[in-house]
Amino acid sequence: MLRLSEQSFGTLRMLFERESGIRLRDEKRTLVVSRLQARLEQRGMRSMEDYCALLLRPAEQEERQRMVDALTTHETYFFREPRHFEHLAQQALPALTQRPLRIWSAASSTGEEVYSLAMTLAETLGPAGWELLGSDISTRVLDVAQRGLYVLNRLECMPRMFLQKYCRRGFGQYEGQLLINSSLRARTRFLRHNLLDASNPLGSFDVIFLRNVLIYFDPERRRYIVRNMISRLNPGGFIYFGSSESVSGSTEGLESVASSVFRRPMQRMKP
Ligand SMILES: C[S@@+](CC[C@H](N)C(=O)[O-])C[C@H]1O[C@@H](n2cnc3c(N)ncnc32)[C@H](O)[C@@H]1O
Repeated sequence: MLRLSEQSFGTLRMLFERESGIRLRDEKRTLVVSRLQARLEQRGMRSMEDYCALLLRPAEQEERQRMVDALTTHETYFFREPRHFEHLAQQALPALTQRPLRIWSAASSTGEEVYSLAMTLAETLGPAGWELLGSDISTRVLDVAQRGLYVLNRLECMPRMFLQKYCRRGFGQYEGQLLINSSLRARTRFLRHNLLDASNPLGSFDVIFLRNVLIYFDPERRRYIVRNMISRLNPGGFIYFGSSESVSGSTEGLESVASSVFRRPMQRMKP
């Protein structure tokens, strides 16, 4: 196992926080080493000191991105927290009448959340009248998302009918994998976006999924991200948080419509 000195951990902590806004806690030291091991091997580095020196070079932005890819947690699966998708189909979509509807999965990881949204939208609204964006800070997971090719596991929350209707089972060299149908893949767009970047011209949305990412930030950044997201929500729009995440104190002005689901009130009509 590689040794991680206090100084190297300090450098990694500073660089990772600067890139992602996430502060590595002391107890993450072993995890940091195991997640970066492959990067050191690929770059032919023998020690963490050498790797940190490399990361500090201004020209190594690509390696700093690889470091962010390795140190962020990407756990996700299809129809995670299924009641959110039920709420979307049964409550939110019938209440949203403007077209096209704009939907954003703001920390989409490898794309399972985006395709779960795409299936829900296609099933409820049909093939047109909606736009779906997935974004993440990690370019590695965005590449996976764009391909739409997944190992056939953790499908327990995906309705069987959706599996048959919107996915193709692989055979031959793709045995044990599923591919999202090209019609759904064509309806999705993925791009790199840092949640701390308020200046990105993404426009405003009718539905935002911001789930299972706030837990990685300190309370101040969490509030900043939530406020920034709320400012991108159209009047009448819905925002979904992970049910284990604390958003208390950040959702003023929003109406709580279900557990971890909030709605921005419609603008009042002028008398
Ligand atoms: C645990 S996954 C959550 C995926 C999905 N939303 C879900 O609930 O299943 C968290 C994702 O947040 C991304 N992330 C972490 N920091 C970020 C930041 N500053 N900006 C954008 N995405 C970030 C990670 O790369 C990771 O893919």
